[in-house]
Amino acid sequence: MATITASVYTSHVPAIGAALDLGKTHEPYWQKVFAGYEFSKQWLKDNRPDVIFLVYNDHANAFSLELIPTFAIGTAAEFTPADEGWGPRPVPKVIGHPELASHIAQSVIQDDFDLTIVNRMDVDHGLTVPLSLMCGKTEAWPCPVIPFAVNVVQYPVPSGQRCFRLGQAIRRAIESYDDPLKVQVWGTGGMSHQLQGPRAGLINREFDNAFLDRLIADPEGLSKMPHIDYVREAGSEGIELVMWLIARGAMADVAGGKPPKVAHRFYHVPASNTAVGHLILENQR
Ligand code: DHB
Ligand code: FE
Repeated sequence: MATITASVYTSHVPAIGAALDLGKTHEPYWQKVFAGYEFSKQWLKDNRPDVIFLVYNDHANAFSLELIPTFAIGTAAEFTPADEGWGPRPVPKVIGHPELASHIAQSVIQDDFDLTIVNRMDVDHGLTVPLSLMCGKTEAWPCPVIPFAVNVVQYPVPSGQRCFRLGQAIRRAIESYDDPLKVQVWGTGGMSHQLQGPRAGLINREFDNAFLDRLIADPEGLSKMPHIDYVREAGSEGIELVMWLIARGAMADVAGGKPPKVAHRFYHVPASNTAVGHLILENQR
């Protein structure tokens, strides 16, 4: 059977992708951000999965106000980097895993979560920036990736509790797949940031660090936090953090296993308008 070996959490700031693509990673401003991922790049080489299940949000690139899926699973064989207005990022195309993705869709939908099945979808910075942070510049991503898009852009958005429960259903799905694949589940977006309105530029270090503490030690309690608290404390785009609860819900301890090992933790302000947070949690055998 397939197993979930680890979960990875990271912000997805688009300017990080631009810094990488334009060769600016060694500028003092960006060096401090990328320094937090040096460990992670080596860790990913040492702990290379067979498949990454990547939870992210689309920013009105693949979807628009015409069609707003709450949860969308990418079942295609490949996904092209999106043109977000200045041409697609010069990064590899994403190779999918249609067999595992279809199995997860089957299992999770039968487990009472309504997923939209997406056979064609471009992937924006929400997906490609986390891959870039974890892999650096590369000719090919290290393994197939299943994109899992969550609506956190247009209200109503799913609650933290629903995301946490969905993560548990995704774990059941992956662990019932009849092939011994090593799968990582990534939760992306966040941390505190607000891009518009009178509070544009909002950052809340205290909230972010408490979120990281609770994500590690009390994910169930954290999952009960209502939307309004995310928006009030972490800014309008801080709501992206509910996606981290999907990855956390897929970890073994939530289903009665051992608590995960914290392999890496990083927090830095600023990157563009955003507080960057990053965690790697390993399931213990
Ligand atoms: C920024 C952050 C985001 O999460 C995003 O989707 C777009 C922009 C920013 O910090 O500028
Ligand atoms: Fe975003």
